[in-house]
Amino acid sequence: MSETQAQMSMNENDGNKLVYKTNGLNLWYGENHALKDIQLHVVENEVTAIIGPSGCGKSTYIKTLNRMIELIPGVKTTGEILYRGRNILDKTYPVEELRTKVGMVFQKPNPFPKSIYENVVYGPRIHGIRDKKILDQIVEKSLRGAAIWDEVKDRLQTNAYGLSGGQQQRLCIARCMAIEPDVILMDEPTSALDPISTLKVEELLQELKKNFSIIIVTHNMQQAARISDKTAFFLNGEVIEFTKTSKIFSNPSDKRTEDYITGRFG
Ligand SMILES: Nc1ncnc2c1ncn2[C@@H]1O[C@H](COP(=O)(O)OP(=O)(O)OP(=O)(O)O)[C@@H](O)[C@H]1O
Ligand SMILES: [Mg+2]
Repeated sequence: MSETQAQMSMNENDGNKLVYKTNGLNLWYGENHALKDIQLHVVENEVTAIIGPSGCGKSTYIKTLNRMIELIPGVKTTGEILYRGRNILDKTYPVEELRTKVGMVFQKPNPFPKSIYENVVYGPRIHGIRDKKILDQIVEKSLRGAAIWDEVKDRLQTNAYGLSGGQQQRLCIARCMAIEPDVILMDEPTSALDPISTLKVEELLQELKKNFSIIIVTHNMQQAARISDKTAFFLNGEVIEFTKTSKIFSNPSDKRTEDYITGRFG
């Protein structure tokens, strides 16, 4: 996408409340040029969806947003990702600080093999909170926020592995909320869930965006259309189109976007 297109697709008011701004990001796994000149921005209190065929760089991109990508040997990046105005790709940026601001939920629910309670207080404990009363409050607030409190309130001390997949995923969202992040990154968070659990998580996202910014990778086009404010279409490591979700699904500018969303490939 050209600079002009990127500018055009940026809502006039977006500039004031940018959470992330990615400028000319390139990423290589060894010789494999996986992200090419990415321009994208993320606005406060919005859900931004990332769609595109398998292998186009969606997970790679989302993992650069919290610098998880640097755990992989041989990864090289150029360009910048401004988070609240500071370039997180700058090696002097404190990654620990970033991780307290940016939570992540993965495709497969990944609770710790501990009690429901301990899963939620894990992050706050790392941040030094010891007071039992405060931890109790965090647990209730986070589990309520993730719409799972009523289902688990009477069994907080039981192992999280005893929950259903959909419950585990909402627990993981609660665990993420317990650190009071600014942004939540989600990589296909509902692909392992049944339709009812999926609906619950989708409803939850609409609630969460009142307080957080959400970036979600999804293969499910209906889901992107239902829940997101903006959508980025990735193809072969490039952003082909990035604009309001209503526009991308009703009147895409690029033929390749249209072909993808109408199911002609991918
Ligand atoms: N750890 C890695 N080491 C080397 N190459 C990788 C690694 N992870 C991803 N890649 C490559 O980077 C490209 C983008 O992969 P990525 O996982 O970001 O795609 P994706 O859009 O998330 O796909 P999917 O929809 O299948 O999850 C692919 O060519 C992939 O093979
Ligand atoms: Mg992926």
